[in-house]
Amino acid sequence: MTTAARTHAATDADPAPWWRQAVVYQIYPRSFADADGDGLGDLRGILARVDYLSELGVDAVWLSPFYPSALADGGYDVADYRDVDPRLGTLDDFDALVQQLHDRGIRVVVDIVPNHTSDRHVWFQEAVAAGRGSAARDRYVFREGSGPAGDLPPTDWLSMFGGSAWERVEDGQWYLHHFAVEQPDLNWAHPEVRSDFIRTLRFWADRGVDGFRIDVAHMLTKDLSEPLPSKAELDTRPLDGTHPLLDRDDVHDVYAEWRKVLDSYDPPRTAVAEAWVAPARIPLYASPTSLGQAFNFDLLEADFDAAQFRSVVENNLALAARSGSSSTWVLSNHDVVRHATRYGLPAPGRTAEGRPTHRHGREWLLAGGVSDLDVKGGLRRARAATLFLLGLPGSAYLYQGEELGLHEVADIPAALRQDPTHTRSRGFDVGRDGCRVPLPWSSSGPSLGFGPGPAHLPQPGWMARYAVTEQENDPGSTLNLYRLALQLRRRLLEGEDLQWRTTGRPDVLRFARHGGFEVVTNFGPTDAPLDGGQVLLSSGEMRHDVLPAETTVWLRPHG
Ligand code: GLC
Repeated sequence: MTTAARTHAATDADPAPWWRQAVVYQIYPRSFADADGDGLGDLRGILARVDYLSELGVDAVWLSPFYPSALADGGYDVADYRDVDPRLGTLDDFDALVQQLHDRGIRVVVDIVPNHTSDRHVWFQEAVAAGRGSAARDRYVFREGSGPAGDLPPTDWLSMFGGSAWERVEDGQWYLHHFAVEQPDLNWAHPEVRSDFIRTLRFWADRGVDGFRIDVAHMLTKDLSEPLPSKAELDTRPLDGTHPLLDRDDVHDVYAEWRKVLDSYDPPRTAVAEAWVAPARIPLYASPTSLGQAFNFDLLEADFDAAQFRSVVENNLALAARSGSSSTWVLSNHDVVRHATRYGLPAPGRTAEGRPTHRHGREWLLAGGVSDLDVKGGLRRARAATLFLLGLPGSAYLYQGEELGLHEVADIPAALRQDPTHTRSRGFDVGRDGCRVPLPWSSSGPSLGFGPGPAHLPQPGWMARYAVTEQENDPGSTLNLYRLALQLRRRLLEGEDLQWRTTGRPDVLRFARHGGFEVVTNFGPTDAPLDGGQVLLSSGEMRHDVLPAETTVWLRPHG
C-alpha cells in the first residue's frame, strides 16, 4: 500500500488521508486493453498492464463502469451493480486486479451510478411487467401522460442527451429518464433504493475497493409533487438547493448515510462527487459529512490563458478550504474533447446567440474541422497545462491516453459512433466517442497492441505514432514527461498551500510550493525571461534563462 506520507506532510501520529494529493488515473475499461480479442477492453487487459500503471507512478486508478450493461451509454447504464460484465471478465478477475494493484501501492476507485439503472436491470423489468400502481413501479418515476388520451409525455422536460425526458411503456404509462431511454431514473424517496445502494457500496468496499466516484451526484433526489412544473417554470427556479430536479439540499441526507458506511471501514473509503453545480455549492459535496471530495471542472472549461487559470486555482483552493477537503484538478475525462485537441483549435468565433464556438471542441468536430487543428501547438499547450496542474496542491485526475499526448479522434464515421448523445441529438452533437477510442500500445498489429483483434472503435493511422512502444525510449516523449512529473511530485510534495510570485508579465504565472519547488508557466506566445533556479523538469525545450512560449518549468530556486 502507498503511505500517506508519500504525498503529504503528515506526521506518523496524524497521517493525512491518501486521497488529498493523489494522482488518480481514469481507466475507461472498454477502451484500455483487450486480452481476449473480442474488440472490447477487459479486466484481464488491465491486469496485463499493471506494471505500466506502476511505472507511470499513479497513486490510484478509477475504473469507469465494468458492470453488466447493454452499453446504451458506454456502461453508465448498469444492469447489475454487484457483478462484472461477462465480456469484461469475472468477479475473480476483479479481485485479482485489486490484489495486483494493491501489491504495487495503487489504490482502486470504482464508479457508482445511482441516478438511473439500465432498462435491463431486474427492477426495471419487474416494474414494466408489474403494471401501473405496482410497488415495483414505485422504485422508478412512472406517471400518466398528458393530453386527452394520455399519449403525450407528462411534461415537456428534456433529456440531457436530447429529446423528451419521458418514454412510454406498453400499457401507456411514461417513465422519467434524464439520460438515454435505456437509463430510467430511480426514485430516491424509496427506502429500498436507498438500502440497495448501501449494499452495493459495502459489496465493493468489502472486496478491497478504496474509493468511489459518484456519477451525476447532484441529480438523485427530486421533488416530484404534482402538478409537475413545465420546463419554462423549471428554468426560472434558482439553483440554490431548492430546485425540483437539480442539486437539492436533501441529496446530502443520502450522502450522510453513505459517509457513515464509508467511515466504518479502516481506512475509511473515499468518495468523489461528479456534480455539475455552481462553484459555491461544491463544498457541500466535498464536506467530510457528505462525500468528502468533489470534482472541480473549471480548468477543463478554461482556455489556455494565465488569467483564467489563476482565478480558477484561487477560487478552488478557497472552496476546498471552506469544505476542509482538498481540491481536484481535471483537464480531460471520458465526456469531453481531449485537452491537446481543445488547445489546438483555431481561436473561437461566436455563434448566432453570442456563445463562443467550440469552447469544448464538439461543434468544431461536427463541422469536420480536422484540417484546422494545430496538432503540435495543441500538444505543446496541453503538456504545459498538465505540468502546471501537477504542481498544484490537491488531487489530479488524469484520463487514459493523455499521458501519450493523444488527440481526439475527430473523424469517426457517423455509422460507427456509439455515444447516445450523437444518435439522440440526430447528429446535432457529435458525441463523446472521439476520446474513447482504444489506446495504442504498439505501432503495429490489428488494433495497435490494444488486443489481438480489431478494436470496437476504429483507431486512425496517426495513432501509431503515439503508441507506448514509440514513446518509451524517447526521453522527450509525453509519456516520459508524465512519468518524470509523477516521480518528482511524489518526492517534492509537502503541505497543501501555494504562494504566488510576481512575474512582471500577465501571461506568465509562477507559484511556490512548500516542498521547495516552484512552477512557472508561460501561457504567452513569446519567450519570457526566467531568473534563477535549477530546472527540475520542463514541458518543452528550455534555453538558458529563457522560458519559451507555452511552456511550464518546475524549478528549485537557488539559495
Ligand atoms: C456522467 C458520466 C457520463 C454519463 C452520464 C450518465 O456524466 O460521466 O459518461 O453519460 O453521467 O450516467
